[in-house]
Amino acid sequence: RNLSESEIFLYRVIFLLCVCLVHGEHLELDQVVSVPEGWLHEGRVSPLEEVELTFALKQQNVDKLQELLALVSDPDSQHYGKFLTLEEVASLVRPSQLTEKVVQTWLQSHGVTRCHTVLTRDFLQCSMTVQVAETLLSGAEFHRYRRDGQTIVRSSSQYSVHDDVSQHLDFVGGVLRFPPRGKEISKGWTGARHLKSFHLGVTPATLRARYNLTAADVGTAANNSQAVAQFLEQFYHPADLAEFMSLFAREFKHLTEVERVVGTQGGGKAGLEASLDVEYIMSTGANISTWVFTNPGRHESQEPFLQWMLLLSNMSAVPWVHTISYGDDEDSLSTCYMNRINNEFMKAGVRGISMLFASGDSGAGCRHLPKEQNVFRPSFPASSPYVTTVGGTSFKNPFKVTYEVTDYISGGGFSNVFAMPDYQVSAVKAFLKGKQSLPPESYYNASGRAYPDMAALSDNYWVVTNLVPIPWVSGTSASTPVVGGILSLINDQRFVKGLPSLGFLNPRLYKLQGTGLFDVTEGCHLSCLDDKVEGQGFCAAPAWDPVTGWGTPNYPDLLTALGKD
Ligand SMILES: *[C@@H]1O[C@H](CO)[C@@H](O)[C@H](O)[C@H]1NC(C)=O
Ligand SMILES: *[C@@H]1O[C@H](CO)[C@@H](O)[C@H](O)[C@H]1NC(C)=O
Ligand SMILES: *[C@@H]1O[C@H](CO)[C@@H](O)[C@H](O)[C@H]1NC(C)=O
Ligand SMILES: *[C@@H]1O[C@H](CO)[C@@H](O)[C@H](O)[C@H]1NC(C)=O
Ligand SMILES: *[C@@H]1O[C@H](CO)[C@@H](O)[C@H](O)[C@H]1NC(C)=O
Repeated sequence: RNLSESEIFLYRVIFLLCVCLVHGEHLELDQVVSVPEGWLHEGRVSPLEEVELTFALKQQNVDKLQELLALVSDPDSQHYGKFLTLEEVASLVRPSQLTEKVVQTWLQSHGVTRCHTVLTRDFLQCSMTVQVAETLLSGAEFHRYRRDGQTIVRSSSQYSVHDDVSQHLDFVGGVLRFPPRGKEISKGWTGARHLKSFHLGVTPATLRARYNLTAADVGTAANNSQAVAQFLEQFYHPADLAEFMSLFAREFKHLTEVERVVGTQGGGKAGLEASLDVEYIMSTGANISTWVFTNPGRHESQEPFLQWMLLLSNMSAVPWVHTISYGDDEDSLSTCYMNRINNEFMKAGVRGISMLFASGDSGAGCRHLPKEQNVFRPSFPASSPYVTTVGGTSFKNPFKVTYEVTDYISGGGFSNVFAMPDYQVSAVKAFLKGKQSLPPESYYNASGRAYPDMAALSDNYWVVTNLVPIPWVSGTSASTPVVGGILSLINDQRFVKGLPSLGFLNPRLYKLQGTGLFDVTEGCHLSCLDDKVEGQGFCAAPAWDPVTGWGTPNYPDLLTALGKD
């Protein structure tokens, strides 16, 4: 008898549990090691070249961290909004003395001494030669790869660490994961859907009209701040932002400059996505101080996303809202890695920081498996239970500011790794029991974390990049900063009243049951192009659905609902 995909999955999970918890020599045996398409092999890295590796030390009190997050994010708890400082987070989760000692002794015994830690002491970043790295991480073999002018150093094979240290580490960064390909932001004139009718396109004025933002709805609180984070080789140009604002933002008070850039802003051409994020978070979150975290991987062996997580654990004061358009197939990442990244999201949540991730631009996605066993393909961090995930919509009538329907690219579905969190159980169950037809059950795991949580327009944006206004830019990388800016406006009104930030929004968002949001009830998103589902994934429905979440923001109502405690 052939094992079904789910049985194979189950055995894999049991096996990995054993590997992760008991033997633990290999830290991330389920991490996909093959070289993703597009990367060209340039050869083995010579033994004396340097790599910079990131050691994720086992944290303490992760259970407590999780409980605390649930309390400070639950509006019905006495602890709601009682956030921790980074120093308090550090004293909760920092590794045990034993863990620190074992890892340090191990590194020192191999002559590794150039290490930096972070304030929470749960990461160690160390420089060493390839020769030393290959001894520490037995099985690893470092090679250089090139894509679009960017080079990186990664191991072509799995690594394991000494038995004695394995139980003190979650994973080692800078060894296996390749940066995901940037979402090809669609420039619509190639897409058939745009040929049907000419469209004037989405600008800040369109968004502010649809989401009911008046000219008075801009930031006023001195301490408020928001951020976009970018990990592709992409940069925004200050001149593009200034031109965008002068063209499109005449009717409301706004800032025309980014307050702070953290990381290396490279030269060269501006990236469409980088321009998009900054221009739109500063249009809904108008007159709010904005930071850009950009390409924080300085070394060829670093993982830029992980570098950003390290930065957050090393900076006491960071913005209240972060929007990120970044994701990878859940099935390509090791469970140990994703669990640890979840811990990092929890650390941010207990500090009162809101993390917003784009839900992705491939609908339910598709993992092609042999024998017509295709399944949907969730993406991470969109599927993390500890972030707010934002899907996409388009206008029903593209000529008018009408109601919104599903944008068929809107990422959504169910995690295969993370269980459904309590805050969404009743909403998701109601959807699954609803009237609309569902895709065959074999395509998704209905007990997993379901996403997105909310949505905004993601179609036909105007963006200024390299000083040229470009129309028809689409993707959930557009909707995410739009929602981010709106949450920042709500934070702003809360700060004026002396209330804390919204922090991790989901527990409160799901309790609203759609209050303050325009419900999106029409349209379906993409999925596998096979005989069984024929390209259709889930469909929007009244209340929550795995295509547009609870819907899109109606600012005055959302402010009424969230602007008080
Ligand atoms: C964290 O910040 C401290 C103090 O600014 C710095 O010395 C250290 O190198 C930083 N850690 C990392 C991993 O960058
Ligand atoms: C907000 O926008 C919707 C639709 O655009 C409109 O029907 C409604 O009256 C507006 N105002 C409020 C306060 O919701
Ligand atoms: C813009 O924000 C600043 C604080 O950062 C505030 O002093 C100013 O009044 C705001 N402008 C408007 C028009 O509200
Ligand atoms: C479904 O998800 C749950 C938790 O998210 C997991 O425990 C279970 O193994 C998954 N089942 C399959 C068949 O993938
Ligand atoms: C703004 O910052 C100042 C100084 O750090 C602090 O005293 C004040 O409480 C802050 N206000 C708000 C609303 O966070």
